[in-house]
Amino acid sequence: MEQQKRYGHFDDQHREYVISDPQTPWPWINYLGNEDFFSLISNTAGGYSFYKDAKFRRITRYRYNNVPMDNGGRYFYIKDGDTVWNPGWKPCKTPLDFYECRHGMSYTRITGKKNGVEASVLFFVPLKKWCEVQKLTLKNESSETKSLKLFSFEEWCLWNAATDMENFQRNFSTGEVEIEGSTIYHKTEYRERRNHYAFYHVNAPIQGFDTDRETFVGLYNEFADPQAVMEGKPRNSHAHGWSPIASHYIEVTLAPGESKDFVFLLGYIENEQEEKFEALQVINKQKAHALIAELDTTEKVDKAFAELCEYWDALLNIYKVRTGNDKLDRMVNIWNQYQCMVTFNFSRSASFFESGVGRGMGFRDSNQDLVGFVHQIPPRARQRIIDIASTQFPDGGCYHQYQPLTKRGNNDIGGGFNDDPCWLIFGTVAYIKETGDFSILDEMVPFDNQPGSEVTLFEHLKISMDHVINNLGPHMLPLIGRADWNDCLNLNCFSWDPNESFQTTENVSEGTKAESLMIAGLFVVTGKDYVALCRKLSEYSNNSEYSEEAVRMQQAVDAMIDAVKKHGWDGEWYLRAYDFYGRKIGSNECEEAKIFIESQGWCTMAEIGAEDGMVAKSLDSCKKYLECEHGMVLNNPAFSKYIYEYGEISSYPEGYKENAGIFCHNNPWVIIGECLAGRGNDAWSHYAKILPSYVEEKYQTLHKVEPYVNCQMVAGKDAFKPGEGKNSWLTGTAAWMWYTVSEFILGIKPDYDGIRIDPCLPETASDYTVQRKFREADYEITIHPNGKQKGVKSITLDGAKIDGTVIPYSPGKHTVDVIL
Ligand code: BGC
Repeated sequence: MEQQKRYGHFDDQHREYVISDPQTPWPWINYLGNEDFFSLISNTAGGYSFYKDAKFRRITRYRYNNVPMDNGGRYFYIKDGDTVWNPGWKPCKTPLDFYECRHGMSYTRITGKKNGVEASVLFFVPLKKWCEVQKLTLKNESSETKSLKLFSFEEWCLWNAATDMENFQRNFSTGEVEIEGSTIYHKTEYRERRNHYAFYHVNAPIQGFDTDRETFVGLYNEFADPQAVMEGKPRNSHAHGWSPIASHYIEVTLAPGESKDFVFLLGYIENEQEEKFEALQVINKQKAHALIAELDTTEKVDKAFAELCEYWDALLNIYKVRTGNDKLDRMVNIWNQYQCMVTFNFSRSASFFESGVGRGMGFRDSNQDLVGFVHQIPPRARQRIIDIASTQFPDGGCYHQYQPLTKRGNNDIGGGFNDDPCWLIFGTVAYIKETGDFSILDEMVPFDNQPGSEVTLFEHLKISMDHVINNLGPHMLPLIGRADWNDCLNLNCFSWDPNESFQTTENVSEGTKAESLMIAGLFVVTGKDYVALCRKLSEYSNNSEYSEEAVRMQQAVDAMIDAVKKHGWDGEWYLRAYDFYGRKIGSNECEEAKIFIESQGWCTMAEIGAEDGMVAKSLDSCKKYLECEHGMVLNNPAFSKYIYEYGEISSYPEGYKENAGIFCHNNPWVIIGECLAGRGNDAWSHYAKILPSYVEEKYQTLHKVEPYVNCQMVAGKDAFKPGEGKNSWLTGTAAWMWYTVSEFILGIKPDYDGIRIDPCLPETASDYTVQRKFREADYEITIHPNGKQKGVKSITLDGAKIDGTVIPYSPGKHTVDVIL
């Protein structure tokens, strides 16, 4: 294999990824913000900020898929004599004497050096504040006095990121700003319906400014050589319409060895309707002044940063492993958990592959994301479940997504995905097992957000199960609807028109026989969970309705298992589906795509036919037909032509996305199947193939995208360049990798009455320790694998042997010793 160039490395002690070459194979980004105010930031300071919703409250402008790539961001220009440079190299691209970008937990620090000057910028969003802090430190490392001209730069987005990109006949006339001291206010549309504005401030006197883009940049110049900067002369421009920006100009003199801090603040403010103005057309700046006052010194900023770091310390202290394998420990203890929090915050809305305009919070996506963060922020998981359930319909069906700002469901990316309802059970059960909070089931939750329609959350779970039962096809398997987990398996779509979307075009549902084995497996897994939940409820409440419900649902689960055994087995693996006409998909009889991963994952997780050897055969078939150097592909062989009856899946060239790409999200399903079957060696080898820290070591250049997080898709074995990654960050892979490693490989599984211990490990595993905070308890659990892949032999709790594999919950500190 050719030696791959490296662009960075992990710094575990600081929980950072350190990038040492700005010209990464693709922008390597990070996320700032944890609650309401968010930013995306690349390793060259590109990206943008928004308040809550990347579509409706976009604060700064960004140009997706542009030339050059990653165009637009928060840029500092330093003019030192005739040399103009940026600490993050871009946009000027002046060669630097030193460059480093450290992406950490919700912060990024970018440092550049040129001609004896060091410029280091710390970017972060303070907890509970609606702003991005940019603390710039300039240091003169030379032996001469330096006179520098410093220009800041941000470009305002006119709030709605979608119309900002298209409605120029209006936009070019609406832009408005105000300038007051060292603060530039962006108030476009504030005169009418908006009650919010943004500002860009610096805690030092300025010697000039610009707010009109073309005046600052020059119509025939670029971000790389803005006229005002190149000439060292701000224009003091005042934007009226066109494209408002914010740029401060500061003259800085530094004696040899001297350094100075500047705190730049990008803030967002909302005012009450009656308090919007202090005079005609003059915005009420009180709240902006107050926010600025909270962060106007280096000391205040350092304190806010320390609080952010403590917040992350606490989050990452909840589950901590020491295995002695750095690559595993750093993913489990740092990056996997961090990515889970990012997917919690963003679902699939805003990354460098998701424009923040098309997609909101997914119903199925957000439920799955929940298993990744529920241990860290249970109260927010609780709220999330209620928000999601509130978009459900009375028959159990649901909107596929909702907008975070309004929390209202919409059909913008289609509706009628028949797997969606089951995920609500998956998410809710995970929440209750983590917290023991059964009261969530009594919460009154509306349908489609309609006041007056409320029923209990438990009722929502029940109708979710019923939605599957009420929508069975000719083989008594679940009808697929628009699609199941695989958005692109569109069996009722039949599209020949390139102008229509596979996702939103009207489906032919009359007479359909299209059934999904993926939903069948999902139904069995979540159905068993639902039955166990009902049994617990009846045990705790002594209410026989719950035990009757458990019996009813167990029958439905058993019937589904029978249907899969009878109509869903192909001899060596589970079928994937039946098409509209009732023909097999994912069968040895098919010309292409004879086997699919999703049904292998879900039916092995459901352990359907394990006693007849079906599970083992299915897992072996995954190894034989789906596995390759970079992970398991989604289907094999890839489709080589478009199949009208299958829809989008066959629209992709071979090896990409849902057509035989390595869709990392579903690899963990098979890995869990392996774990349940006790095949620890196989589970580990599949897991390590898609574990970022292993990929980082071998394939930085080939893989292309960020080496510290999982991406949605890695090009599969049939692709032009197998191993190339795409769609990084926002993917269900994060939560599934976490769920897999924390609960099934390392084997620490929250349960209603305590923690179940059931690891499944490679034979080579050494002793390891997991520190797990669980409700009001703190467990230190040491596992001695003794060369075994699975099977707990004995558990000692605080020195005393216990029966079974569940450590009964009790508050306080506990030591647990486990022998396999
Ligand atoms: C979507 C998921 C979907 C997956 C497979 C992702 O882009 O967010 O909801 O399950 O693609 O199609």
